[in-house]
Amino acid sequence: MTRTTTLPLHARGLAALVPLAFSLGCAAEEPETAPEPTFWQDVAPITASKCTACHQEGGLAPFRLDDYISAKARAGAIDDAVQGGHMPPFLVTHDGSCGDFEDEETLTAGELDIIHRWATGARAEGDPTGAPPATPAPTLEGGVDYMTPPITPVADPENPLAAHDEWRCFQVDPGLDADRFITGYQVTPGVRSIVHHVTIYRVTPSDASLVEGKTNQDVMTELDDASPDRPGWECFGGPAEEMPFQPLLAWAPGQVVVEFPGGTGAPVSAKDHFVVQVHYNIHDHAGAGAEDSTRVRLRYEDTVERRAVFLGDDAFLTTLFEPDGPDSLPPGQKDAGYTWRKTRAELAIDPALPPIEVLGVMPHMHERGRTFDTRVTSGEQESCIARVEDWDVHWQGMYWYRTRPLLDPSSSIEVTCTFDTRDAEAPVLPGWGTQNEMCNLNILVALPMTP
Ligand code: HEC
Repeated sequence: MTRTTTLPLHARGLAALVPLAFSLGCAAEEPETAPEPTFWQDVAPITASKCTACHQEGGLAPFRLDDYISAKARAGAIDDAVQGGHMPPFLVTHDGSCGDFEDEETLTAGELDIIHRWATGARAEGDPTGAPPATPAPTLEGGVDYMTPPITPVADPENPLAAHDEWRCFQVDPGLDADRFITGYQVTPGVRSIVHHVTIYRVTPSDASLVEGKTNQDVMTELDDASPDRPGWECFGGPAEEMPFQPLLAWAPGQVVVEFPGGTGAPVSAKDHFVVQVHYNIHDHAGAGAEDSTRVRLRYEDTVERRAVFLGDDAFLTTLFEPDGPDSLPPGQKDAGYTWRKTRAELAIDPALPPIEVLGVMPHMHERGRTFDTRVTSGEQESCIARVEDWDVHWQGMYWYRTRPLLDPSSSIEVTCTFDTRDAEAPVLPGWGTQNEMCNLNILVALPMTP
């Protein structure tokens, strides 16, 4: 029983107004519940662990948050960005409504409250001498380092969607003398402000390519030779359409040390090389004109308990190869949808295998992508496993599950992508080019050791 329900209507309205009047008029007299937060004592410990990997001098983000003056000047924007969930960037929905992700890098309710009270209060500085010491950058122990060749990225003004970007692929010989497993990685951009993402693929140079009479090595040599004055080759999408490749791992800004979960590792054979794809973004950044060489550190182990295998599928893209022509998206629509569905067997998982765990997910679309939804149906049960409500092509990465979805032999996966095609004059076709679109689901699954 509550008092207000027994009051006459007009009195109820009054009762609702009282707390507001109190907080407006009598705030100063209110007993202090929590002390006013200060930057150095309360806010800096949060930004040091969750923001300054990017928001520091020379970092990926356009301003620093390890400095009182800079943070205070943007207090309102900081509060908006964190309360709205835009910062720190975390593309998939992680409020528990669709998948349970490892999202420790995002803010807790308590941290959101501190930032809100500081940003909307006195924005006090506090005592810098009591500030938390800078935490040393984490490093992957026992890794082998590979450097991409030094290159100054250039945009292609002829290509409207690459006017500020360059996607470059580099062949790297890991020099393996035996079959191994990658169990951890750390990518360190040379110039952080321009390296937007890195994907590492496995290619077997001595195998036949998709071009008659040519090996994969022939294909890569030709691509590399096409720009003799610059290392590597241009590669939107995968490393090359002319050869088979297997994605091994993906890095996006904000990831520091990544260790494969659950006793898993990505298998590489002694015959394999890597293709390291770097997406450079040189729009409006202090790093424009700078020469980058990115370090990829990989940790190998001889044995693991389970294989970590990337499964990528895009049934929109593969309509390109169907006899009755590719599907397309209608132009001029705010949210043109495309849905595809595949059974576990169609995802090339052996039907004889027991239920397998999904370790992580990486949705992929191009510039027109808006939303991305992934559902798994197993028997009678349907569950949502990954959703992106506001796609941003710059923040792609692998999102790891805290509670891993299972795919059993009866399971099927359904993906729905929506696209904004309002700027398109003709139907939008699937494809690897930035003018084309993709509705591409990548999942990392744990498979038993014996194939
Ligand atoms: C992974 C790198 C990264 C992390 C971590 C990160 N930011 Fe950002 N932030 C950026 C980049 C890059 C931009 C500029 C481009 C953009 O807005 O997408 C940005 C923009 C912003 C902006 C400008 C307004 C806006 O919403 O775009 C604010 C405010 C901001 N960040 C606050 C924060 C705070 C506070 C944190 C920590 C709680 C944080 N950021 C963590 C990279 C990051």
